[in-house]
Amino acid sequence: MSSTGMASTARALAHVARTTCTAIEPLAMTAQRRHQSSTSTSSLPTIGLIPGDGIGHEVIPAARRILETVLPGIPLVDLDAGFATFERTGKALPPSTVQVLRDQCQGALFGAVSSPIHKVAGYSSPIVQLRKELDLYANVRPVVNKKAFNASGEQVGCDLVIVRENTECLYVKQERLETDANGESIAFATRQISQRASRRITETALRLAQQRAASRSSGTSLLTVVHKSNVLSVTDGLFRETARAVFAAAGSPSAVKIEDQLVDSMVYRLFRAPDSVDVVVAPNLYGDILSDAAAALAGSLGLVPSANVGPSFVMGEPVHGSAPDIAGKGVANPVAAIRSAGMLLAHLGYADEAQRIDRAVEEVMTRGIATPDVPGGRASTNDVTSAVVAALQA
Ligand code: NAI
Ligand code: MG
Repeated sequence: MSSTGMASTARALAHVARTTCTAIEPLAMTAQRRHQSSTSTSSLPTIGLIPGDGIGHEVIPAARRILETVLPGIPLVDLDAGFATFERTGKALPPSTVQVLRDQCQGALFGAVSSPIHKVAGYSSPIVQLRKELDLYANVRPVVNKKAFNASGEQVGCDLVIVRENTECLYVKQERLETDANGESIAFATRQISQRASRRITETALRLAQQRAASRSSGTSLLTVVHKSNVLSVTDGLFRETARAVFAAAGSPSAVKIEDQLVDSMVYRLFRAPDSVDVVVAPNLYGDILSDAAAALAGSLGLVPSANVGPSFVMGEPVHGSAPDIAGKGVANPVAAIRSAGMLLAHLGYADEAQRIDRAVEEVMTRGIATPDVPGGRASTNDVTSAVVAALQA
């Protein structure tokens, strides 16, 4: 790219440059660093790499380069899952993948899988299954952009985290088709909200809210419980009441203010006043939708990372899907996957390495090196990745 082009891209990127977000402290007690003493190769955690489908095969190799740069010699294991795996083997999530993750790995990095929108006999989304198999009950999705705008066009910034329950809600996938009295089809889905899952996701969100309060000069944070209990008073009512009970059981910590917000007006608020949102806790489907919406505040889905966190395992995963519209073109934004690798390392206790990744990504974006999904971006996946590697080595 010419230096003039680079400069104008840098200006266009100004509103998405400050999206640092991987440096979240470990949230699950047992997902912390197991190898405190050194970073010698033998003590490094083993990470499973699951590209999946589509651009997963472009962004996970990019993240692999970053992991190998910040922790040379880190043991990485390539694992299969996804629709192509299903077509080849009859299983979207081969048992061997789960076995290797359980027996050999301390963490994993997942790309994305393509799930058909029509029913395919025998196919079930491997990511949903993997979250259940490994009990990855919390999906932590930070969205940070100091240059984000509000609905009045003012640059107010956003620095929020969506904590999505990962194991139940409509994702229990209990659907059935019946025939009504007129002979027409009628479909039903079961939505499961349990006290246990609602409790532990709120405990995670509250821990995060307390960490954020402690790291601020104000000493405070805001925890927003998202639900729709004005309509779904039994299921969402249980989620809301459980969240409130968790807060009370924790002694209603004065550093954290708790509030409720209905899911539909939460979307409105995200765009109207992104700076008013801090930590959001939500049931599975609401959390999924809210985090894609919030990704727009960051500038692109290709920038937003996440970590799936459980009591004994952590799996980084970009928020985006397999993006079949751009797959194979070499233009997929690797930043979400790279930042997810940073979140993974942060949760495994490698905070310095996670921060180095954050800073390198930020530096590259500030210099205007970005893929086309970001306004003004013209670089390839490889260009961006190489620039991040170079920034890490500088
Ligand atoms: P998507 O996230 O794949 O794509 C939405 C839009 O964002 C597309 O225009 C795409 O080109 C763009 N985009 C996404 N990631 C990008 C990146 N890294 N760089 C540049 N542009 C990017 O969502 P969509 O289209 O709804 O779903 C496509 C497939 O992905 C479906 O089969 C869906 O089931 C699957 N999916 C898988 C997920 C997972 O494995 N965790 C999550 C979401 C969707
Ligand atoms: Mg999603």
